[in-house]
Amino acid sequence: MKKIFRVAVDGPSGAGKSTIAKAVADKLGIDYIDTGAMYRSVGYKMMRKGISVEDEELLRKMLDETDIDFYENNIILDGEIINDKIRTSEISKMASLCSAVPAVREKLVELQRGMGEKKSVIMDGRDIGTNVFKDAEYKFFLTASPEERADRRYKELKEKGESISYDEVLKNIKQRDHNDSTRKLNPLRKADDALEVDTTGLSIEDVIDNVLKEIK
Ligand code: DC
Repeated sequence: MKKIFRVAVDGPSGAGKSTIAKAVADKLGIDYIDTGAMYRSVGYKMMRKGISVEDEELLRKMLDETDIDFYENNIILDGEIINDKIRTSEISKMASLCSAVPAVREKLVELQRGMGEKKSVIMDGRDIGTNVFKDAEYKFFLTASPEERADRRYKELKEKGESISYDEVLKNIKQRDHNDSTRKLNPLRKADDALEVDTTGLSIEDVIDNVLKEIK
């Protein structure tokens, strides 16, 4: 039987994790799991239900009744495909806030471990190499300057028709970096055994090649 392996891709917002992880998954014929989309889904559901991060009891109840899964690169929340609905700057903020809540992390980490138990996966996020799969066979930490990451995110949001300025996007990125790396529970951090790839000024193809070279 083929040996199962896990690839962890961590790093701050806009470092290119999902683009790289998706392409590597295609090349290797393994599943790609976007854990940020899972935090976004929880943020989206909280917003729809009007539940705030302080409503711990309501939030726990909501989580008990929440089902998140991936099917053919679609993210499914309680049976509904929500791909585009979770890619707004409003949901980005909500996802960052809810990702600091222990009950949310417990639930999502459990789901993530279950997803990577029986098959090879490439998973991107903030705490994959340091927490979800500490024993992952391959670990990468992608970085890029805040300005380059803001530039990439700004272009994405503009394409989607969101009216937001570059300065606002840069401010949001810095705020999220701060939230993600200073929260008490599993903050964004490079695992000691992860390979750091600074993608500033590199093409997507260059980064994919770097990652594939390590795995093969
Ligand atoms: O990668 P992203 O921008 O879609 O992630 C959305 C938020 O979710 C981000 O602010 C941090 C949080 N997150 C996390 O805490 N742990 C993960 N493994 C993935 C994302």
